[in-house]
Amino acid sequence: MKLYRAERVAASSFNDNSRMPQAPSTTQIACTTGPLSAVDADVVIVPWFQDDAPDWNGVDAATGGEVARAVTSKEFQSKPYDFFLSRVTDTSWRAGRVALIGGGVGTDRGSELMRKVAAAAGYTARQKRVARGAFVVRGSGDRLALAQAVAEGLTLAEFWGGIYKTADPAPAPPPSWTIVVLDATPATLAEVSAVVARGRILGECSNLARGLANEPGNRLTPREFAARATALAGEAGVHTEILDETQIERLGMGLLLGVARGSAEPPRLMVFRYDPPGAPATPVLGLVGKGITFDTGGISIKPAEKMEQMKDDMAGGAAVACAMRAIALLKAPIRVVGVVPTTENMPGGKALKPGDVLKGASGKTVEVINTDAEGRLILGDGLWYARQLGATHLVDVATLTGAVVVALGKVTSGLFGQPNAWVDRVRGVADAAGDRVWPLPLFDDYRDQIKSEIADIINTGGRAAGSITAAMFLKEFVDDVPWVHMDIAGTAWADEAKPYLPKGPSGVAVRTLANLAFERFDG
Ligand code: BES
Ligand code: MN
Ligand code: ZN
Repeated sequence: MKLYRAERVAASSFNDNSRMPQAPSTTQIACTTGPLSAVDADVVIVPWFQDDAPDWNGVDAATGGEVARAVTSKEFQSKPYDFFLSRVTDTSWRAGRVALIGGGVGTDRGSELMRKVAAAAGYTARQKRVARGAFVVRGSGDRLALAQAVAEGLTLAEFWGGIYKTADPAPAPPPSWTIVVLDATPATLAEVSAVVARGRILGECSNLARGLANEPGNRLTPREFAARATALAGEAGVHTEILDETQIERLGMGLLLGVARGSAEPPRLMVFRYDPPGAPATPVLGLVGKGITFDTGGISIKPAEKMEQMKDDMAGGAAVACAMRAIALLKAPIRVVGVVPTTENMPGGKALKPGDVLKGASGKTVEVINTDAEGRLILGDGLWYARQLGATHLVDVATLTGAVVVALGKVTSGLFGQPNAWVDRVRGVADAAGDRVWPLPLFDDYRDQIKSEIADIINTGGRAAGSITAAMFLKEFVDDVPWVHMDIAGTAWADEAKPYLPKGPSGVAVRTLANLAFERFDG
């Protein structure tokens, strides 16, 4: 078996009319300790819980009684993301204003909530054209985890998706931030700075993935996606390759080529390798992402309604590329490989037809019942290749099925895999990263639904348990390697704005994948 090595694609290969996905912001996040009166900012934002004493850390006195008045009159109710801004009248304070942001009744004060509260504060502060914000770390549990979550939330709030608007004014630049940890020793503050820098990188890499998912299909073709995604990872020191259609063919990737057949745009296979000096030979974390730059459904064409949404069918691939970037920037201690097969799924004279039989690189044959079940096809070849690259632990991320949206809605990604210990490990990391996931079963009984009369397997399992049978299909390509599949079809894109997440790409799974490279697991 031959592995192909292609030349690195330089960032200068971007075509003229493409824009870089949102460049990482240049503003840093500073850290300081209290008292609040000494915090140097335009606005000091304080997360506020319903049971807080009105003069918590002197904010009521500083505002001349405004905070107590707002709380008593219920003008400010402390519900999550409620916002109340007041002038500071106490001239011994350096900040001119103080703001409360609701944290709720205070039963849940963990970093998951605080990440969202910080993001909501970030969006509101930018809307109010705050130039220099400060955010006070509060909540229960580990203070460092809370501070990192706050840095992530404030950074996530910097994402703006309207990059092709020429008439509407762009929003004000995001504020610079100071994260305030009250009663911190200099040693604690140094630790806080480190986790804040970490949170900043994770937030920025999430935003880069959002920028890629936001790009329309005419801009982000498979070639363009490959060039940009490998540039993002390459800049951080990840070794990257882009395999073209000839190299893909030589590897025998008939599943990826089959999906690409209907398109005028050629497919690509991105390969990422992160090999830190001194890392043990194993484990090797293998990340695989679905990179369909536009999914029309192919000959089994999708209805026109909402089809435009299918530009984000590469969100899993973007998450892998941007997680590779984060992994290198954060200097993870283990080896990581990434594989992102990318193509369009189009109808056309040469397109895949229902009933066609394809042979993947693993040697397995697939009868294509529905050309719209294309993600599992390209991932079959991608997972196989990640194993060839030495992956001992696999995680794939894909906008794979509408069925997972029916099952878990727009809130939670579906989690599948084997063995349970590896699924539980990924689940724990996702929980801490703020990516909601929930496990679904892969009982052998479901295997019957993907039996073929003519080939090894079919690519659809019918309406029943659609996201499970899609995962059962992927399982055919991993053998007994520990493997987790995240179905992000519902979570990659927000249809409705929340105070902490605007409509548009969410950046789901970037933080989970990146943090996994810091877990200890057996080689
Ligand atoms: N990209 C879609 C899945 C999807 C649906 C993502 C809705 C985001 C929102 C995938 O390629 C697809 O079309 N899946 C089919 C599979 C079916 C034909 C077995 C689906 O879910 O309908
Ligand atoms: Mn599809
Ligand atoms: Zn798709």
